[in-house]
Order: sequence, then structure tokens, then C-alpha cells
Amino acid sequence: MSEDWTESYRPSGLDEVVGNPKAVQDLRNWAQSWEDGKPIKKAAVLIGTPGTGKTSAALALAADFKWDVVEMNASDQRNADAIKAVALRGALGETFSDSGEYLSSKDGKLKLIILDEADNISGREDRGGVPAIAEVVRSTKQPVILIVNDWYALSKKSSALKTGTLQIKFSRIKTVTVRGVLRRIAKDRGVNVSDRALELMAENSNGDMRSAIRDLQALATGRTEITAENTEVMGFREVEQTMYTVMDDIFKRNDPAKARALLREVDESPDTKLLWIEENLPHAYRDHLDLYRGMKAVSRANDFLSRVHRRQHYRFWAYAGDQLSFGVCAAKEKEIHGYIRYQFPMYLMRMSRSKGNRTLQNEISSKLGALTHTSTSSARQDILPSFKLLFQRDEAFRLRMVVDLELEEEEIGFLLGDKIDSAAVKRVVAEAKKLTSGPAPVSKGVEEKETKPEPPKPAPNQARLFSF
Ligand SMILES: Nc1ncnc2c1ncn2[C@@H]1O[C@H](COP(=O)(O)OP(=O)(O)O)[C@@H](O)[C@H]1O
Ligand SMILES: [Mg+2]
Repeated sequence: MSEDWTESYRPSGLDEVVGNPKAVQDLRNWAQSWEDGKPIKKAAVLIGTPGTGKTSAALALAADFKWDVVEMNASDQRNADAIKAVALRGALGETFSDSGEYLSSKDGKLKLIILDEADNISGREDRGGVPAIAEVVRSTKQPVILIVNDWYALSKKSSALKTGTLQIKFSRIKTVTVRGVLRRIAKDRGVNVSDRALELMAENSNGDMRSAIRDLQALATGRTEITAENTEVMGFREVEQTMYTVMDDIFKRNDPAKARALLREVDESPDTKLLWIEENLPHAYRDHLDLYRGMKAVSRANDFLSRVHRRQHYRFWAYAGDQLSFGVCAAKEKEIHGYIRYQFPMYLMRMSRSKGNRTLQNEISSKLGALTHTSTSSARQDILPSFKLLFQRDEAFRLRMVVDLELEEEEIGFLLGDKIDSAAVKRVVAEAKKLTSGPAPVSKGVEEKETKPEPPKPAPNQARLFSF
């Protein structure tokens, strides 16, 4: 009863990992290079959305090469020391198995260190987690696999991680492939599943094999037949409308009313919809007049959206939507054929790329605000730019501010315009530590300036900014 099909049908070797053949082959080659004593890279990063077989592939690899496995879920342990400890043991070549059994390295077997959900450790509470992982990658004498959903977030925190690893991407599993696996499992279980039901389950998994197998198990419980109707209890929707599918209806087809209805179903804000259409219209309409009329509709939509913002008159949203769908669709006279390579809106991309930086900027500004008795936003506008310059140019100021504002590595990196594991940031952190720990004289640069003895215990964060 409590059997978990996703576990029972976990691939036992790399041959059983379906989809992503290139990723599997890359992984195999990487492991072979370790076996040959000349690793391509010490660590491999498996990147991909949940349920695409990353964990399975790592375990299957170890099974194929007969390696022992030291598995760590980074998000459980949530601390840098634990990771280092494991890595160190791995590095020395002596480890214990999960059951506590001593595994000697004498037999020459490699031990695969798997850090699952390695991107989860990079959250705020885990300062030091990223450098710890980078350290593992640098110093390990055993093969290491990092598993992440969001490689971008992790890699931008450490250039050492980026260069020290072999990155292997796992894409969503194709619907036909998911369907094949479901059919095999159903057969194995003696459950009769209709083609349509298989199709629906596979489609709705959206390339997530784990969720597909879960759905199948849920539906098969207490049944020997599964029909398309049965799948309704799972609340399967018709395939979701996305901007990608709807843009075909707007740009390529000639049914403006349908285009309008479909655009309404897309679960995005009107502003976002506009960005999509605006970005992609020039790729679709090659005829100048078509493009001109199409853009006119987009600019009308934009007018309505600004009225919504100005007057909080949300009824105008509908008009904006009409212009974007009906208006743009009806604007063309030429037939549009062929595949259009739709682009993600540049604006959104830039905003999301700068999100990390914007957050940091706000954090620093709020500290500066507290110190100078101004609001976060005016600290950001009026103080931060010159603060940043001073911070970069004046060492004594820099160290004082690191201490007084309790700046963290990430924030120091941001202010210096450097990665958080860069030598410059490390140096600042070390110097600042010296400054705070004990009565020992601080570094020269600071000493020269501070000729007067320290005033007795300054209240933290008090007007130190102005003493320079
Ligand atoms: N590529 C795959 N081939 C075969 N089974 C898979 C695959 N991907 C996922 N599965 C199934 O889904 C379950 C979860 O997969 P897992 O490897 O943990 O995914 P991830 O680590 O990418 O989230 C596995 O136990 C297995 O049953
Ligand atoms: Mg996993």
C-alpha cells in the first residue's frame, strides 16, 4: 500500500534513464574520465526542472561504475560545515556509508559525492554555503555531482563554481517519452489504461516524470481500468494557453475573435502580454504596412494600459486586450507562413537578471538609511552612488563601513563590483575581522588615520558615516 511507484521504477542503470541522451552520455564520459584518473572536471552539475531524472541519473551512474555514494541533501543540512565535513572525508578518501558502515578507500573504489538541491543552500540564511560548495569542488579527490534547479542563481555567486564544473542540462521529458514509460509501468501492474488517458496524463505532467508516475499510481489505486473520464478527478485541464501558443493565433491565423478569446485565457498581466506582442510582432509581420498597422494597435493598447494606471480604471484592461489580440490579428493583409522563433521580452529578461542586484541594493540602502536617518529610497538615490565610490577607493572607510553596517560578503561584492568569492572580497572580510576581533592593532591604513584612541564603545551604527 505504501509502496511508492516513483521509487520502485527508479532507473537502476544509465540505460534506463529515458530522454536527454546527450546529458546521459556527457555524464558517462565524465565518470569515465575519473575512472581513467584524469577527470575532465572534478564536479558535474546536473541542471533541470524537477522530475527529469537528475537524481536518478546520478545514482544510476554510481551503480553502473560500482562507485559508493555519499548523498547529501543540501537543503536538509543547510549548513556549510556539514558539506565541508563530507567533502573532507571524501577528499581523504575515507567515508562511511549511509548505514554507518566504514568504507575504506584501500579497495580503490571511487566515492561519488552527491549534493542534491545544491541551489537551495544559497538562500539568505546560508551565508558561506556557496563558498563551501566551491571549496568542495576545488579540493575534492572524489567525483562530485551537484544537482540544481536554478543554476543561474547559484553560478552568479561564484565564478569558481562556474569554471570548476561540467554543466549538464536535463530538459523536460517529451510527452511521447513520458507516455511510453507510463504504458510500461501500467502493463507491469496489470492495469489497463486507455490511450487517451495515457495521453492526458503525459501531457499534464509537463515533462515531469515523477508527477506523471504519481498520477498514474493515484489513478490505478483500486482500479484495473483507467479511462479518460477517470483522469478528470485529477483536475486535468486542457493544455494551458501560454503566450507562445496564443501568439500563433494572433500573428498567423485570420480569426481575430478567436485570438481575442484565447489571449484572455492566458494567465499573465496585460502589461506582460503587451511586452510579448511588442517584442515579437516585428518577427512575425514582415510586410511594412502590416507591421505599421499592427504596431498602431499595440500603441493603442499601451494608451489604455496607462489610463488604467493613471485612473485605476480597470475596465480599460479589456480594451487593451482587444487591441493586442483582435487589433493585431486583423491588422495584417498578407498571409503569414512558417515557423516564428518567438523571443522572451527583453525588458522582462533584464529585470529578472538585475533582480538579485536590486535586492542587494535595497538591503544596503536600508542599512544606510538607518544610519543616516533617511528613507531607504532616498538613501538609494542620494547616498548609495557616492558611498559606493568611497567604498571602492578608501580602504579605511571601506573597513569601517563593513564593520559598522555589518556588511555581508554578498553586499561587499556588490559594492566592489566583484564576485562574492573573489580575492578582493575575501581580503576585505579578513581585514574587517581583524578590526573587530580583540585589541590587536588594526591594519596600517586604518591606524594612520585613527590617531585618536577609540571613543569608549560607540553605539553601533551611530553617525560613523560622517566621521569621514
Ligand atoms: N529520465 C528518467 N527516466 C526514467 N525515470 C525517470 C526519469 N526521470 C524521472 N524518472 C522517475 O521519476 C522519479 C523522480 O526522478 P528524479 O531522478 O528524482 O528527478 P529529479 O532529480 O530530476 O527531480 C524517479 O524515481 C523515476 O521513477
Ligand atoms: Mg532530485
